[in-house]
Amino acid sequence: MSEMDFTQILIEVSAFAKSTTDLAALQNFIVEIIPERLPYYNWTGFYMLDPNDSDTLVLGPYRGAPTEHVRIPVSQGICGAAVAQNTTVIIDDVHSDPRYLACSLETKSEIVVPIRAHGAVVGEIDIDSHDLAAFTAEDSAFLERCAAIVGAFIETNQTSSK
Ligand code: SME
Repeated sequence: MSEMDFTQILIEVSAFAKSTTDLAALQNFIVEIIPERLPYYNWTGFYMLDPNDSDTLVLGPYRGAPTEHVRIPVSQGICGAAVAQNTTVIIDDVHSDPRYLACSLETKSEIVVPIRAHGAVVGEIDIDSHDLAAFTAEDSAFLERCAAIVGAFIETNQTSSK
């Protein structure tokens, strides 16, 4: 994927973020545009920390196969690890990672990027690919910029991170 594809998506996501005050609308825009432009992003979704239970992630807008993992404790999964470690996690081969919680049997690699607002993690963007080792440092930089747009949006528009 070229740097230009990532840049173009970020331009469109930034513009959309300025056009709404509804977090779900922004999240839906992101999960629509990313897999449409980046075909190896086979499952793209948001998990946000439950405002009433900060030890649990709750599934938000997503595109891809339905998942049974609607609520994930921060102590579990690749999703939980990204929050617990407050860092982007890239898994080249999910089946070799004992923390992995399966969504689709076709998933081979995964990247999870924390979303921060007011200096704290409030959620994450989770992507699965059917390709092994699909995600590079460029994907990580791109998704961290997406997460920064969502974090800044939450700081501006939300009193809670839900
Ligand atoms: N694989 C994730 C669970 C979420 S599904 O991929 C949608 C994990 O290990 O936390």
